[in-house]
Formats: sequence, structure tokens, C-alpha cells
Amino acid sequence: MAAPSTSPDQTVREDTPIPHLTRAMWRVGAVALLCILVYPIFKFVDSLRDRFYVFDPPLLHDLARSAVAAHPGNTSDMVDFILANLTATYPGHTVALNTNRSEFFFNVAGGAMGVYLFIFGTPLGTEGHTGILTADDYFHILEGEQWAFAPGSLGREIYRPGDVHLLPRGTAKQYKMPDGCFALEYARGWIPLMVPFGIADTFSSTLDVPTLWTTARVTVREMVRNLRIGKI
Ligand SMILES: *[C@@H]1O[C@H](CO)[C@@H](O)[C@H](O)[C@H]1NC(C)=O
Ligand SMILES: *[C@@H]1O[C@H](CO)[C@@H](O)[C@H](O)[C@H]1NC(C)=O
Ligand SMILES: *[C@@H]1O[C@H](CO)[C@@H](O)[C@H](O)[C@H]1NC(C)=O
Repeated sequence: MAAPSTSPDQTVREDTPIPHLTRAMWRVGAVALLCILVYPIFKFVDSLRDRFYVFDPPLLHDLARSAVAAHPGNTSDMVDFILANLTATYPGHTVALNTNRSEFFFNVAGGAMGVYLFIFGTPLGTEGHTGILTADDYFHILEGEQWAFAPGSLGREIYRPGDVHLLPRGTAKQYKMPDGCFALEYARGWIPLMVPFGIADTFSSTLDVPTLWTTARVTVREMVRNLRIGKI
């Protein structure tokens, strides 16, 4: 007699691999679902952001203008002037102060909903794209000029010492500092979300990015890390 033939049911089915496309679609689906779930939480936390905003933009603008008036053309003295005022105005427990002049900035203990304040500038002039920020950015010119161009407008905007250039979050402009320019920059919003962009930018177009900008971004990153470790 012939050996009993194996029934079709008993043949070992080869594990058919899921096609790559299907896998990719699953991943996209999973990420989309995650976004949908996380979005309301994000919106809620976002609605609380005012609690973390220690600095008052009109006061900062006033302070920047006073600094410009007190020490026209001397950014170094303006920084001292601003630091003296801020340390007097904001007690130490609300604001972590980095007194290292070459890395000057303030950061408010508040974790993900950060604000930061620092001096941004270059003595040589620079040009670039602001990137789409996840924070409102107040740029108080102390010395020199900043020019900006927003898509859709025909003319250039010119900001001079004492002016404030507000870049609301979600917007982007082309900007240029035709010559040396220094500014007191205050950003508030989702700072940590900005940091990866800043760092990525540094690697992809190192030549375009002024060293100070890089330093500032890296410093922000370090500070956020410190906050995570020590302050929360
Ligand atoms: C700091 O500057 C603000 C704005 O110019 C001013 O109203 C305030 O009096 C200054 N505070 C000190 C301690 O100088
Ligand atoms: C700024 O003023 C200080 C004195 O207050 C002076 O030592 C310094 O050289 C000045 N800097 C510039 C760039 O003029
Ligand atoms: C200040 O920062 C600069 C640049 O990061 C660094 O080289 C210097 O050692 C720092 N100074 C102090 C006193 O921490």
C-alpha cells in the first residue's frame, strides 16, 4: 500500500512575510493614532503655557530701549545694564541665571514649557531663514540692524536699536543682518522642540550658522537637561 498522503491541512505553511509596504502602512497608522491620542494632552498643556511666562514683553522692550539709550553702540555695557535690571527685578528662585557673559541667558524652571532669553548677534553680519519656530520670538535690537522679509510681502522690514521684531510661533521669515548686529532675544513656548531643529541645522549647513547661534542653541539644550535633572 502507498504511504498515507499528507492531507493539504497538514502541510507546513510557510510564514508569508508581510510585504514592506504593509509594514510601513502599519507604522504610519500607529504614529497617526499616537498623534490623535496625544493631541488633546498637548492642547491642554499648551493652554497652560502662560503660567510659565515670567518675563513681560513690554517690560523687556522698555528695558532694551533704556539699555540702548544708556549705552548707545556698546553692547557689552548694555548687557551689564540688562543683567543688573533683571537680577533686581526677578528673584533668583523664579529664574536660573547664567552669569557667564559668553553664554549669557536666562531660563525659567518650567521644563517643557520653557522660555529663554539671551544675547544673539554677530559682529560680521549674517543672513538666513528663521525656520518655523515653536515659540514666540521677541528680538530686541541693541546694536546694528536686522532686515526681514516675510513671504507674501513685497518690501523689507527694517529693525533698528530700540525696536522689537516679533516673530509669532508658526511663522517663518528670511532675515539678514547686513552688518554687525546684536539683540536681546526672548523666546517663549515649546523651546525643547526648537533645539533639535537648531542642532540639525548646524550639521546640515554649518557654514551658514554663526558660532554664537550654535553656542546658544547648545547652551539651551544643556540648560534644559540641567532643569530635568535638578529642578523638576
Ligand atoms: C528695570 O527696567 C524696567 C523697564 O525699563 C523699569 O521699569 C524698572 O524700574 C527697572 N528696574 C530696576 C530695578 O532698575
Ligand atoms: C564700552 O564701554 C566700556 C566702558 O564703559 C569700554 O571699556 C569698552 O571699550 C566699550 N566698548 C566699545 C565696543 O566701545
Ligand atoms: C564661560 O563660557 C565659555 C564658553 O562656553 C567657556 O569657555 C568658559 O570657560 C566659561 N567660563 C566660566 C567661568 O565658566
